[in-house]
Amino acid sequence: MAGVAVLTTINGDNVEYLCQPDETLLDVLRDRLGLTGAKEGCGTGDCGACSIILDDRLVCSCLVLGAEAEGRRVETIEGMAHGDRLHPLQQKFLEHAALQCGVCTPGFLIAAKDLLAKNPDPTEEEIRFGLAGNLCRCTGYDKIVRAVQDAASVMKGA
Ligand code: FES
Ligand code: FES
Repeated sequence: MAGVAVLTTINGDNVEYLCQPDETLLDVLRDRLGLTGAKEGCGTGDCGACSIILDDRLVCSCLVLGAEAEGRRVETIEGMAHGDRLHPLQQKFLEHAALQCGVCTPGFLIAAKDLLAKNPDPTEEEIRFGLAGNLCRCTGYDKIVRAVQDAASVMKGA
């Protein structure tokens, strides 16, 4: 199969890659570009572990083709911290121990970032609804919700 040449923006950087027409963006990120933060939990759009932001929209990268990133803006977990400075959501996930094995964590962080960008002052119900597409088999969800609430307070004050 002939490759597809793609020019896109990932975490603010222009990136060019070749992929197969049927290759998912998740596989491109992980296997071609070495961005292994997004995880493959299910590969069928059910778990949210592969969440990324594509042109300001939260998507499951396992359901997007690598070729579809042409000319678009991709944000992944690798772009969330600035150098050694963690994003407030990352900091609060640590402080609240809102992770155990960590497989779901990049997806939760990206989904929470998208949620707070659109709704900086969410209620607990809105947080639970906003993160409903992300599954965690370890922590239960309370610590994650508390971490997002705490991060929202910090970000409002900033
Ligand atoms: S791996 Fe994409 S939703 Fe589960
Ligand atoms: S911390 Fe293990 S799946 Fe969420």
